[in-house]
Amino acid sequence: MGLGEQEKYNFDILAAVIADASKRLRDNGAESFSIFLDSFVNGKIRYEGAVEKITLSSLMGLYKFTEYKTKDKDKIKNIKQISIVTNSNNSFENEIKYAYVVADAVSKTRDLVNTPPNVATPEYVADYAKELAKRNGLKCTVFDEKQIEKMKMGCFIGVAKGSINKPRMVVIEYNGSKSKKPVAIVGKGVTFDSGGLNLKPYPYILNMKDDKAGAVAAIHIIEACSRLKLHLNLTVVTPLCENMIDAASYRPDDVLTAFNGITVEIKNTDAEGRLILADALSYAAEKKPQAIIDIATLTGASLVVLGYVGTPFVCTDENLRKKINEASPKSLEKVWELPLWQEYDESLKSDIADVKHIGDEGEAGVITAAMFLKNFVNELPWLHIDIGTTVWSKVDKGILTKGATGATVRLMMELLREWK
Ligand code: BES
Ligand code: MN
Ligand code: ZN
Repeated sequence: MGLGEQEKYNFDILAAVIADASKRLRDNGAESFSIFLDSFVNGKIRYEGAVEKITLSSLMGLYKFTEYKTKDKDKIKNIKQISIVTNSNNSFENEIKYAYVVADAVSKTRDLVNTPPNVATPEYVADYAKELAKRNGLKCTVFDEKQIEKMKMGCFIGVAKGSINKPRMVVIEYNGSKSKKPVAIVGKGVTFDSGGLNLKPYPYILNMKDDKAGAVAAIHIIEACSRLKLHLNLTVVTPLCENMIDAASYRPDDVLTAFNGITVEIKNTDAEGRLILADALSYAAEKKPQAIIDIATLTGASLVVLGYVGTPFVCTDENLRKKINEASPKSLEKVWELPLWQEYDESLKSDIADVKHIGDEGEAGVITAAMFLKNFVNELPWLHIDIGTTVWSKVDKGILTKGATGATVRLMMELLREWK
């Protein structure tokens, strides 16, 4: 394997080479292989970091989604064992454990995001989350349509109305610290986004099963935190529904009332994510967490901003901003901050309600979506991550395989790893 020029060698190259080599070995029929660690270490890249990155990258590269293949199933073989060989006397147990748990969380996230929308309905994802919580001894509450209605989550109910697959809201709690207020993670869980009455045209309607990726990532992040026994309290809130066309669908020009009482004028039923998040965020904010992080496949505009390379985010808190900027290079998930200048608020003014939920077409789509969400976090320290683009890979290259990427799982795990 070639690692390229010494000066340019970095963790991104290491990860890509290990992942590609692992795939090659597997595709050539290997059942196991060994990696000589020392040859990947130099002045810049130390043993410690390298073991973790090698383990994670190899496992991520080897990921395959075969659930719905019926032919030649027995021919699809994966690697049974990977050995890391070294002259170093260090103990790498903790690093390998971390990488293994995180890789597992990434794989499970990819599996569930890849699961087709006729199978992975809101109820299915809620049952999955319940099962996961039970397995890990985590407290889990599932709200059904009636309860969501009773709680007056008018925006969430509005979006969910057009589907026969009824909505759920899942709340999972992990207690890894005695005293501290929890960190809240809210994940967008639209199991299929048809656009609603503002129906998405072909080919944009394809792949819209990935619109639940924020929720699915959040569920596996809390599982990984509990498996690693991280010292913090975490609350995951995931609104789950489908955005469909029906006589009962919500319409453009409707006015919906959010959980926190704010009235929202609907202008495009395809901007459904921010509506279900509005209610979920204000629900999370009511619990007075020390910070709120939301993960959402919120906009197609994220593609315009950073392409497939990185994930745009917005943030209202210096401490959180520092944390994500430090976690990003460690996790190998690239992120970049966008501003929340007050001028963007202008475009969200409504003639008849408190706010509109979308801005002017084609203008700063990632930011205006975030600006809308800001109304629902109650001024708490807030980080919003828009994975509209990075949720999915069109290529099978390096740690990426075609399909769901498991975006934000590695990033969030680094961010929460040593939470203070
Ligand atoms: N789930 C989509 C965003 C999306 C699009 C994610 C493509 C991944 C790939 C979201 O609900 C949506 O449709 N957003 C609209 C908002 C617009 C109507 C203001 C968009 O980005 O076009
Ligand atoms: Mn949409
Ligand atoms: Zn959507």
